[in-house]
Amino acid sequence: MNVLFSEKLIRKRVTEIADQISSDYKDREVLIIGVLNGSFIFCADIVRNLVNMKFKMDFISLSSYSGMRSTKKIEVVSKFKENVSGRDVLILDDIIETGMTLDFITKEVISKKPKSVRTCVLIDKRCMRKKDVSIEYVCLEMAANMGDDFVVGYGLDYNGCFRGLPYICKLKEFVR
Ligand code: IMP
Ligand code: MG
Repeated sequence: MNVLFSEKLIRKRVTEIADQISSDYKDREVLIIGVLNGSFIFCADIVRNLVNMKFKMDFISLSSYSGMRSTKKIEVVSKFKENVSGRDVLILDDIIETGMTLDFITKEVISKKPKSVRTCVLIDKRCMRKKDVSIEYVCLEMAANMGDDFVVGYGLDYNGCFRGLPYICKLKEFVR
């Protein structure tokens, strides 16, 4: 099995990013918006490592993928419910490719006049980027030499499967 990001590396990077978030938002209260479904494990691990800051948690559920393909149309399955106006908002997503998803959510949040908005992703597949979205916190980067393959595990799925893997690997490890 060719593991792309091991359980140990994920744990190390999640802790480092949570420390950075804790220090940047020290003594402030943040509204964290997780993007479902893929980010549920990432969100749970990040928030359990936050210290010296308060936060409330909300979620937005989106659907833009069918199997391994982006439908290029973002469908809002359910919206966040917290009032965003005047608050520090941190959006957590599983993986950014084209940037279409994060661009959509960021604009949605900004339209509700927050005090600030930042974004945090588990994986940045930078070679696929089409939209210029700013990301303040990147846990893991898929370097160009890793290819642009579809990845699964640690919350990321293929047609709803593989979310429970403790590591992240390419889907083709399973489907040959
Ligand atoms: P983007 O809108 O092109 O940036 O795609 C981001 C969204 O597509 C993510 O929030 C994921 O839900 C999904 N996605 C993109 N690539 C992968 C992948 O390799 N594995 C699992 N989901 C992916
Ligand atoms: Mg997603």
